[in-house]
Amino acid sequence: MENLISSFQRLFILLHILKETCANNVNLQLFEPTIIANPFHEVSYVLQKTDDDAVFLIETIPAKQPCKTSGNFRFYEGNGKTGILRFEHGCMAEVKTWVADSNTVSMDVNKPAFSVWTLLAKDQSQGACLGDPVHLFAERREKFITTATFPRQYPAQVNCTWNITSPNNRNIALTVYYLDVEVGPERNCVFDYIKIQSDGKEEYLCGENIWDKETFHGSHFLVDFISDKSGVRNGFLIGFHELQIIHDDL
Ligand SMILES: *[C@@H]1O[C@H](CO)[C@@H](O)[C@H](O)[C@H]1NC(C)=O
Ligand SMILES: *[C@@H]1O[C@H](CO)[C@@H](O)[C@H](O)[C@H]1NC(C)=O
Repeated sequence: MENLISSFQRLFILLHILKETCANNVNLQLFEPTIIANPFHEVSYVLQKTDDDAVFLIETIPAKQPCKTSGNFRFYEGNGKTGILRFEHGCMAEVKTWVADSNTVSMDVNKPAFSVWTLLAKDQSQGACLGDPVHLFAERREKFITTATFPRQYPAQVNCTWNITSPNNRNIALTVYYLDVEVGPERNCVFDYIKIQSDGKEEYLCGENIWDKETFHGSHFLVDFISDKSGVRNGFLIGFHELQIIHDDL
């Protein structure tokens, strides 16, 4: 009997040590998405900024398998012990998105099925709203454009233009990672909008808190952003990179 108790005690101590070592510190790099997927054990994550001016974009996605009600999922602005609880799920059934301005965000997880997509982002407007288009070269490594002051609210009455070309005349992939631009009265893009022109085609984009990661392809892009005199939101984050030719002989 004494042996049994001491092995229980040993097991308890071991579990306790395991729990203590299961807090993960994740340092997010600017514009490098980090995905945390399905840790099927109790764990705490602390996400840290590596850039003072940057802000976290966070999207939590439930897994496809049936929702597990037995677990918890808590997201805090700040540290788990002292921070502000932003949301909590017993069963995560829907996508949750969130822009966090604190220095740290953290989450406590206990057996849910989910993944979290996070990105550290900041203003990359590069003076495009000052009157002249900003010329940018697409390269193999992804670069980014945003509204001014992103992801804090963009200014009213701006007219911004980016001209994106490939120095090697390769095709460019342009991805709208995040879109939060005032929509018009009939869900149309007549108030504020992004206009994307490429190879004779024209697309108008607006929408509130959209994380579709829609991608366009073209040989060059002219991107305009227009805001009217009222109604501002958090703006947009667009990434672009040059596509590599894998089979030159095809
Ligand atoms: C934005 O500025 C450009 C260049 O000055 C101009 O051609 C265009 O008409 C402006 N767009 C709007 C919607 O004001
Ligand atoms: C965009 O850049 C290309 C290449 O430099 C140039 O030919 C084109 O006129 C520019 N368009 C605008 C609107 O500045």
